[in-house]
Amino acid sequence: MFYDKELRAIKKANRYRIREVFSEDILDFASNDYLGLSYNKKLLKKACKRVSRHKNHSPKSSTLVNGYHLVHKDFEDYISKINNFSKAICVGSGFLANLSIFEALPRRGDLLIFDEEFHASGMITTNLSKAKVQTFKHNDMQDLQEKIKTFKDISQGRVIIAVEGIYSMSGDMVKKEIFDIANKSNALLVVDEAHSVGVVGDNLLGVYEYYKIKPQDNHIKMGTLGKALGSYGAYILSSNEIYEYLCNRAKAIIYTTAPSLLDIALAHEGFLYIEKKKKKIKKKIKKRKDLVKRYFDTNLQSLILPIQVKSSTDALRIKKNLLVKGFLVGAIRAPTVLKPILRVIPKINEKGFKKLLKLIIQEIK
Ligand SMILES: Cc1ncc(COP(=O)(O)O)c(C=O)c1O
Repeated sequence: MFYDKELRAIKKANRYRIREVFSEDILDFASNDYLGLSYNKKLLKKACKRVSRHKNHSPKSSTLVNGYHLVHKDFEDYISKINNFSKAICVGSGFLANLSIFEALPRRGDLLIFDEEFHASGMITTNLSKAKVQTFKHNDMQDLQEKIKTFKDISQGRVIIAVEGIYSMSGDMVKKEIFDIANKSNALLVVDEAHSVGVVGDNLLGVYEYYKIKPQDNHIKMGTLGKALGSYGAYILSSNEIYEYLCNRAKAIIYTTAPSLLDIALAHEGFLYIEKKKKKIKKKIKKRKDLVKRYFDTNLQSLILPIQVKSSTDALRIKKNLLVKGFLVGAIRAPTVLKPILRVIPKINEKGFKKLLKLIIQEIK
């Protein structure tokens, strides 16, 4: 056996993961399908129609060869326009988008500084980068400013700040101050909006919109399509210059097949749907937040409810007990989080959600 020792260590630490196919009848409060769009067959039909108009239905090659398709371009034109950014690039996944950004932007002599809770898809580039890579304490603007100042005192290099709009595990929102800090320190600011698009903002476009920030040349926004949009893929919004640079330097954009046409078309339809139904969607989101307030006395900033449990064993036990009763929640353990949590996504099935909250309260007593 090549990895016997490592696998035994993972099991001993209660960190062993398995993949499972769950029944389609399960009430799913674990997935990031915040608006239930992954069940919307009308959107699927529309997306198929959008792709079927063309001769080819798969991208065939990298966007820099002949993979760039009208389906991509239409989506990019649309997404950059509604977000008020100059340019958009669609990418195969959020993981690839972050890899593209954080592998390409920070150069030797620069500082790349992540919030310590930033997603693994950004953190993975720590070992790839020739720049100085640091973290700052979660949502601690003072710590961030001190670290930028220390760097600037000795270096002329660029500063690149990386934050999430809504943090994937704690569910809390980045502070508005981050935009002022980035401007004051002439830093590039990358906001990963994987969990905020479709959830916050007047038009449900995420935290740039929620905080009423007018995008500038030092702003970059990354959004994913596999969560609230019920599809798969991602997009990067930026200035014209960053766009050009990424097209020429980002290996995870250049050396990979262009995003799936069907997935991009599905996300495009998803955005149009959200635009049309935003009033109704926002009402439903509020209802779900109100329920959490009632049962857990917590004001959710997002649609992520993290519930701390004593140990990884407890997290797994509770998840299993809930599963027997027909509910699926996330049992998140180290190294994804420091302390184990149940990660619950308030979903549209209101009756089921109330029942689940009551069951969780009994379990964690
Ligand atoms: C904050 C954050 N960024 C990026 C990603 C990666 O996105 P994708 O699942 O599209 O690869 C995820 C999803 O797991 C995420 O939670």
